[in-house]
Amino acid sequence: MTGLLKGRSLLTLADITRDELLALLDRAGRIKADYHSGRREQHLRGYSIALIFEKRSTRTRCAFETAFGEEGGHVVFLSPQDIHLGVKETVEDTARVLGRMFDCIEFRGYRQDTVETLARYSGVPVYNGLTDEYHPTQILADLLTIREAYGTLEGRRIAYIGDGRNNVSNTLLIGCALSGVHCTVVCPAELQPDPRVLSMARELCEDSEVELRVEHDPTVGVRGAEAVYTDVWVSMGEEEKAQERLELLEPYRVTDALMRAAGEHAIFLHCLPAVKGNEVSADVFEGPQSRVFDQAENRKHTIRALILETLGL
Ligand code: CP
Ligand code: NVA
Repeated sequence: MTGLLKGRSLLTLADITRDELLALLDRAGRIKADYHSGRREQHLRGYSIALIFEKRSTRTRCAFETAFGEEGGHVVFLSPQDIHLGVKETVEDTARVLGRMFDCIEFRGYRQDTVETLARYSGVPVYNGLTDEYHPTQILADLLTIREAYGTLEGRRIAYIGDGRNNVSNTLLIGCALSGVHCTVVCPAELQPDPRVLSMARELCEDSEVELRVEHDPTVGVRGAEAVYTDVWVSMGEEEKAQERLELLEPYRVTDALMRAAGEHAIFLHCLPAVKGNEVSADVFEGPQSRVFDQAENRKHTIRALILETLGL
């Protein structure tokens, strides 16, 4: 335990410093090693977490449920069909009730201000399990995966290709800024990062040499990348944009040719779920450069580290 994050929430990755991020990854690495050696400790006996999901989830829900449950804690899953949140009861009131009953809360949904309000009013650590704007617990797992592949983070090069304005891209820029990874967002002009997100991320790495760039040409954008990362072309809640996205993003599919343009040692990353044939070819997804299932597994270990550190355990 470092005690660095005790009582804190993770609403965006910008909530933590570079040192805190690296400490979390170190803890996650130790947790993963213990997990694989069969060592199972229970730090969360007598603790409870509320998991609120307005949107679907496989990895995030299962990571929170298994991490908390294996530590001996009690998990309560709440979908919009189960609770009054924002319908018959304000978010502020639900937050105050949950804060009286749970040690911590995870929220996945649409609006960033919902997770911020939960944190402000509940008085317990709140974790953003994905909003329209950010997906911080995802990027913790991604950075751990890159560090496992290369041994270090600082100075590594990543290219994120596809929808440059979504929650994963936004958070990756922040995570790269904090950890010293050069990041090129490769995307059409119509889907480039919000300039405010880009400048906020650049401010986080002001004192270092880290490059955060936007590039529109796919082959140029991935050149020299040690990790090529993509995400779905149509995020949850944007289904009406599907046709427009397919047209805009067709040239940005990660194929064998694009992986060759990056370099033979580059790894392929995807937060999942993937739509094979859209953002990535089945060959790349299933190929030897793909680390997508390591990434998925690392969701659990990084989330476990986050919970333990924020509960001061
Ligand atoms: N990557 C991720 O968040 O997956 P889920 O939507 O399955 O939780
Ligand atoms: N950008 C995707 C990420 C899914 C984990 C979405 O929001 O649907």
